[in-house]
Amino acid sequence: MAETLLSVEHLSTVFELRGKSLFAKPVHLTAVNDVSFDLVAGETLGIVGESGCGKSTLGRSILRLIEPTGGRIVWQGRSLTDLSDSEMRKARRDLSIIFQDPIASLDPRMTVGQIIAEPLRVAEPDLGRAERRERVSRVMEEVGLAPEMANRYPHEFSGGQAQRIGIARAIVTEPKLIVCDEPVSALDVSIQAQIVNLLKGLKERMGLTLIFISHDLSVVRLVSDRILVLYLGRVVEIGPRKDVFQNPGHPYTKALLSAAPIPDPVVARARERTVLQGDPPSPIRPPSGCAFRTRCPIAQPVCAENPPPLIPVGDRHRAACLFAEDVVQAPSTMAG
Ligand SMILES: Nc1ncnc2c1ncn2[C@@H]1O[C@H](COP(=O)(O)OP(=O)(O)OP(=O)(O)O)[C@@H](O)[C@H]1O
Ligand code: SF4
Ligand SMILES: [Mg+2]
Repeated sequence: MAETLLSVEHLSTVFELRGKSLFAKPVHLTAVNDVSFDLVAGETLGIVGESGCGKSTLGRSILRLIEPTGGRIVWQGRSLTDLSDSEMRKARRDLSIIFQDPIASLDPRMTVGQIIAEPLRVAEPDLGRAERRERVSRVMEEVGLAPEMANRYPHEFSGGQAQRIGIARAIVTEPKLIVCDEPVSALDVSIQAQIVNLLKGLKERMGLTLIFISHDLSVVRLVSDRILVLYLGRVVEIGPRKDVFQNPGHPYTKALLSAAPIPDPVVARARERTVLQGDPPSPIRPPSGCAFRTRCPIAQPVCAENPPPLIPVGDRHRAACLFAEDVVQAPSTMAG
C-alpha cells in the first residue's frame, strides 16, 4: 500500500469582504467548505468544477499560500497548520505550484535563470553559485528549454515556453507534491498536449504526486487517477477516474460530464444529456440543505433540509447526494 502523503481534514477557507463604508458589517464568503481527502504518494488527483467553485482557493489553502480558516492539512504525518514560519519554509521545499497564466506569473524584471533559481535560494540558501547554476541548467533541460536561454527575459518566450519556465521553477527544489492550477488552460490547444505530456513524464521520472486543477474534463481525464468534484466549495463527489466518468453518483458530475466534448461521435450521440441550467448561486448566501438543489433536475423538498453527506457508491467512490445510489445506477456513456 502506498504511503499517505497528504491528508486534508475538514478544510475551510472563508474570505471576509468589507464594504466601502467603514461602518458596514463585513460579509463572509465561504470559498472552501469542509473539504476532506487523502492523497497517496505518486497519485494524481484531478479537481474539477465550474468557475468560482473554489478550486484555486483549495489548492492554495493546501499549500498555505492562502491561510485556511478551519481544518487541518497533514503532510507526511505532520500538521502544516501547526508549523512555525521557519518549519513551514523547510516544508515548502516539498510543496510546489504551477499557475494558470504562465507569462503573468513570471516576474518580467528577472531573467529566466533568476526566476527558476528563486525557490532554490529560499529552500537551499547555502548552495554555491555554480551549484545553483548547474541545478537551473539541469531543470531547464528537463522541461525542454535550452540552458543558454537562462539570460533571457520572460516576454521573449511564447505561452508554451513560459509555462515550461513555470514548471522548471516548480520542480527546481525537487518537490514531492505539485499543485497544478489550470496549467494548460491559457495555452493554445496544440500546445496543451505537449505540456500535459511533459507533466506526465516528469511525474514518472521524479515520482511526483500531483493535484491537477482544471475546468476541462478532457484534460483532467488524461492525467488523473482520481477525481474530486467541487460545487460551491464543497466536495460533491470523489472517486477513481473510471468510476466517476462511467458511473457518476452526483447529478452535478453527471451534468458536467454531459457538457464535456467526446471525441467519438457514436458515443457522443448515444449519451444522455443533462443540461446544467443557470449559474451557481453566490457562495455568500448559499441555498439551505444541498447547495446544488436550485439547479438539480431531480431535487426533492427534503434536499432543502441539510447538506447531504458523502455516501459510498463504490470502492473509494463517494457522492454527496441523498439519491446517489439511484444516480449511480442510471446509465452513463462517458468512457473512463
Ligand atoms: N482573495 C479573495 N477575496 C475574496 N474572495 C475571493 C478571493 N479569492 C477568491 N474569492 C472568491 O472565492 C470563490 C472561489 O474562487 P476560486 O478562485 O477559488 O474559484 P475557481 O474554482 O478557482 O475559479 P476559476 O475556475 O475561475 O479559476 C469565488 O467566489 C471567488 O470570487
Ligand atoms: S441531494 Fe437533492 S438536490 Fe442535491 S444533488 Fe441530490 S437530488 Fe439533487
Ligand atoms: Mg481558479
